[in-house]
Amino acid sequence: MDRCEELAAVSAIGHGIERVHLSPEHARVNEMAAGWMAGVGMRTWRDQAGNQWGRLEGREPGLPALVLGSHLDTVTDAGRYDGMLGVVSAIEVAARLVPRAAELPFALEVVAFSDEEGTRFSTALTGSFAVAGNWHEDWWERTDRDGVSVRSAAERFGLDPARIGEAARRPEELVGYLELHIEQGPHLEAAGRPLGVVSSIAGARRFAGRVVGEARHAGGTPYGKRKDALVGASQVVLAVERLAVELGGIATVGRLQAFPGGVNVVPGLVEFTLDVRAEHDEQRDVLVDAITAYAQEFCGLRGLGFELIEVHAAAGVYCDADLVESVTAGIAATGDPEPLTIWSRAGHDAMAIAAVTPVAMIFVRCEDGISHAPGEKVTLEDVAIGIDAFEATVLDVARRRA
Ligand code: GLV
Ligand code: MN
Ligand code: MN
Repeated sequence: MDRCEELAAVSAIGHGIERVHLSPEHARVNEMAAGWMAGVGMRTWRDQAGNQWGRLEGREPGLPALVLGSHLDTVTDAGRYDGMLGVVSAIEVAARLVPRAAELPFALEVVAFSDEEGTRFSTALTGSFAVAGNWHEDWWERTDRDGVSVRSAAERFGLDPARIGEAARRPEELVGYLELHIEQGPHLEAAGRPLGVVSSIAGARRFAGRVVGEARHAGGTPYGKRKDALVGASQVVLAVERLAVELGGIATVGRLQAFPGGVNVVPGLVEFTLDVRAEHDEQRDVLVDAITAYAQEFCGLRGLGFELIEVHAAAGVYCDADLVESVTAGIAATGDPEPLTIWSRAGHDAMAIAAVTPVAMIFVRCEDGISHAPGEKVTLEDVAIGIDAFEATVLDVARRRA
C-alpha cells in the first residue's frame, strides 16, 4: 500500500494522477519498480517497448518463466490501484518466494507494462502487444495531442524503434501469465467477497468519430439553414447509450469537442471518442454496427457528415482452464472454497499476452466498483488476502508442473 502511494506521487499533473506512456513519469516509475525488483534479488531489464522486467531463476537457471504483472501507466486523473496494485503485489509474491525459488519448476518474472490504457496515443496495450510479438508498424506514426509521434517519444525515452522485435517473447520461454487487478466493478462488493476468479476478458473496440456540419453565425442563421454538428453529435451520444442497453453491450463516449468552439458560432465540427465492449466479440460488433447505422442515418437526415475511424481493437479472450483452476485453488487457500467467477468488463494486458502464453487473473474487491477515477479504494485486508491468494496460486502452478 505504501508503494502504491509512492507511485501515486509520480504524476504529470499537480492535483491527481496522470502517468502516460513514454513520459518522464513513466521512466521514473520504471526505475522505482526496477529498484523494488532488484531489492528482492531479481535481475532487471527494460525492454524495447518500455516495459520493466525482473527475473528470479527457479530450481535451475534458464527455465521458462511464469510471469506475474500488470501496468504502471494511468488514465487521466486516475486512481492509485488500477495496474499498480498488480505490479506491487507481483513483486511482493516474488519476495515471498525467494526462499523457495530453488524448488520452483520455472523462473518467476515480474513485468510492469508500459501502455495498457492508451491515454497518450489512443493505442492501448502496446507494451503487452509488443511482448506478444504483435506490434503494428503503423503505431509508430500515431501522435499525441501535441503532435509528438510514438516513434519520436520512444527515441527520446531511450528506445530504438528498429529493435522493437526484441521485446517479443516466444511461447517456449513462458509457462503462463498471472495478473492481479482491482475488479473495477461492483460484483465482489455486492457478493461480500474480497477476491474473484476471472473467466474471460472483454475486448474493446475504440474509435475516433467526427460529425461534420457547417459553422455559421449563431444569431443570423435560421434553423432551416443550420447544420449544427453538436446537435447531431448529441443525438448520437444518446443513441450510443440506448443501443448499448438494448443490445446488452457497453458503449461510452468519453471525450467530445465542438469546433470552432465560439459562444456565438453554430458548431461546424464535433470530434469524439467511442469505446464499445460486450461479453462476446460478436455481440460487441453488432453494437458497433447498430451505432454506425443509426448515426449515419440520423446525421444524413440533418445534412451532417458522420465518420468513425477505428483506432484500437482487442479480441476478447478466455482465461486458461488450468491456470483458472490454480487461481481458484489459490483463493480457496485463503478461506473461500467456491470463489465467485466474473468476466472482466475492463481490458487488461493479459488479453494481449494470451496470444503467446496461457493467462489467468485474480480480481480484488474495490469500493463501490469505482475505477478510472481518483476515488479508487481497496482495503489493506483485501490486498493482504489477495497477495496470499496470488502466492498460493503460483505454488499451485508449481505443484501441477512438478
Ligand atoms: C482499461 O482499463 C480499459 O478497460 O479501458
Ligand atoms: Mn485502466
Ligand atoms: Mn488496468
